Amino acid sequence: MKEKILEYLNKGHDYLSGDQISSHLGISRQALWKHIQDLKDAGYDIVAVPHLGYRLESKPDRIFAFEVARGLNTKFIGKKIYYFDYLASTMDLAMQLGMRGSAGGTLVLAESQTKGRGRLGRSWFSPKYKGIYLSLILRPEILPQASPILTLLSAVSICEAIKTITALEPQIKWPNDVLIHNKKVAGILTEMNAEADKVNFVAIGIGLNVNNDKKSLIAQATSLKEQAGAQVARVLLLQELLRRIENNYFLLEDKGARAIIEKWRSLSLTLGRHVKVYYQHKHIEGSAVDIDEDGTLLIRKPSGLIQKVSSGDVVHFR
Ligand code: BTN
Repeated sequence: MKEKILEYLNKGHDYLSGDQISSHLGISRQALWKHIQDLKDAGYDIVAVPHLGYRLESKPDRIFAFEVARGLNTKFIGKKIYYFDYLASTMDLAMQLGMRGSAGGTLVLAESQTKGRGRLGRSWFSPKYKGIYLSLILRPEILPQASPILTLLSAVSICEAIKTITALEPQIKWPNDVLIHNKKVAGILTEMNAEADKVNFVAIGIGLNVNNDKKSLIAQATSLKEQAGAQVARVLLLQELLRRIENNYFLLEDKGARAIIEKWRSLSLTLGRHVKVYYQHKHIEGSAVDIDEDGTLLIRKPSGLIQKVSSGDVVHFR
């Protein structure tokens, strides 16, 4: 009902009387008053003027589930959204929901995380109302060893969404860091529940620095606000991201991994560069020549030999 009240208040930008709203929505004046109080508590600035009625002055900067769902227009991504002011990690809940049989496309959103997880056992800085922290459950019909394509697909989708909303041009550092001007703006963590020959579900975790101030970030990180020089509407960006993920998911189903890899290549900052990759307490240096459909990076060593690396940290040289 709150969504409907907001929708109606949004439409006319002028005052609407309590009678008008309650009869339009088929609720009592008292019920309307209660909903308006709840919306005010949630940060919606709704003014009430005697004899005139209610007017929506401003909305809070929140990624409430109903704001994200409104006008999303996806087929399955985000049809069910769980929203929290804070969580330890959206990954924990997504994995639990996956185990309990939640549908593919189910989304977990948090305004902040107290134990946000990054790759390779790192933590993910998740300050309140500044970023987008989400986990998305997918149930692809693929073999477990093909699952890295979903991480590549997510990285591509993040780049596309950022470009559409901000006109910035992000790039991907292998395997899946999204960078703008060589600084990290988003990261992806994928966790999977699978059997030997079947993926039960995958939880894709995405962390995006959106409106973080430069001074709150480490030197190697950036935010869209820092790069664009202005606040970015998180709801619009999140909606675009979900639509891009869905479109790329359908592309993967229709055309196969190659179509995603092609997009990934065109956004890659790593391919063609001289790199050093740190993995499992070792490192290898050489030229990053390509990636496989399973997301493996191919490095040409000075000896000319090609070595495959499936996970690690890349440092770019030239
Ligand atoms: C990385 O680059 O190391 C991956 C970072 C992934 C962070 C996101 S934030 C939402 C989701 N929940 C988590 O705990 N981690 C992922």
